[in-house]
Amino acid sequence: MVHVNIFDTTLRDGEQSPGVNLNQLEKLEIAKQLERFGVDIMEAGFPASSQGDFEAVRSIARTIKNVSITGLARATKSDIDIAWDALKDAQEPRLHIFLATSPIHMQYKLLKTPEEVTQLAIDMVSYARTKFPHVEWSAEDATRSDLDYLVHIVEKVIDAGATVINLPDTVGYSTPEEYGRMFRYVRENVPNIHKVQLSAHCHDDLGMAVANTLAAIENGANQVEGTINGIGERAGNASLEEIAVALNIRKDKYDFTNNLVLKEIKRTSDLVSRFTGMVVPPNKAVVGKNAFAHESGIHQDGVLKNALTYEIITPELVGIQSNDLVLGKHSGRHAFKDKIEQMGFLLPNEKLIEAFTSFKLLTDRKKEVTDEDLFAILTDIQTAV
Ligand code: KIV
Ligand code: ZN
Repeated sequence: MVHVNIFDTTLRDGEQSPGVNLNQLEKLEIAKQLERFGVDIMEAGFPASSQGDFEAVRSIARTIKNVSITGLARATKSDIDIAWDALKDAQEPRLHIFLATSPIHMQYKLLKTPEEVTQLAIDMVSYARTKFPHVEWSAEDATRSDLDYLVHIVEKVIDAGATVINLPDTVGYSTPEEYGRMFRYVRENVPNIHKVQLSAHCHDDLGMAVANTLAAIENGANQVEGTINGIGERAGNASLEEIAVALNIRKDKYDFTNNLVLKEIKRTSDLVSRFTGMVVPPNKAVVGKNAFAHESGIHQDGVLKNALTYEIITPELVGIQSNDLVLGKHSGRHAFKDKIEQMGFLLPNEKLIEAFTSFKLLTDRKKEVTDEDLFAILTDIQTAV
């Protein structure tokens, strides 16, 4: 069976959501949860974009050991050098360089001819390979690029040492049929394509990011990129939890393996939503509040007789406990620990005792302690030095 690598970019493209600004500690907490979720690659940030992002990427690279850590760079030596400084202590560092290949981007944004863009891509990928063992190269705006130019530049960049080629639908313009066709064309026409991973990266401007990603897999992509809850630039990125569950539920169609631990989905989604402040819509597939709720009498009757009548995914599969715990003054340490773990907080013992003490104090003042109360307690404890 073919293995599909899961590349999470919540901490980079996801953080590019308007209004979202994660601090170093928040990024690290999300990174730990992404490790538990089982992603293969984590894009921790864009080190040259700010000192804060540089430090966040460096601390993730030093802490997370079971995931390959990457950072974004423009096609410049200085971005690549800064990224290396941030990533060099990672267990498996990798670089992600992007350069646009569509006529509109080359002419108006880069002010370069296609030949100049090809040479720059070759030079920067070769330079990056003098430092990084893995280099992903993204043809930004691939879906609006000339297909034969794309084939040409991809071949050259692979010769220069790229280990992953990413073909993003940067502006969310493609349909599944077109996006799949582009992957098939590149697979069939780039002679050295078998030397690299081929990656899909979709945006959701027309609401097709997940469908496009699945079409890419059907047509030869063996890496997919996305974010938790689908957050990201403009309308967002392909939602990783939706891709993960689609691959699992439709194994009849998608005969691929991956390392994801699906029961970590809800916890990961909740943590990302709380830290980014981006509320998950109730009708959002897989993680929305209503995703497993049945309202109509006919549906309720069917589900009571046999859940499969209207439920293709069980809540347990994605880590939703059907018996949600309500905490109050009679709750003990065990229930408290269970509840905060459901929320994505796995604390060392001394922090757990500290959090439990604050919780007990609060129960003297409040009958029912809400998730928001717990979140405030836990954030206080985690940011205390
Ligand atoms: O959408 C995009 O093109 C990107 C690139 C940086 C890969 O996010
Ligand atoms: Zn993107």
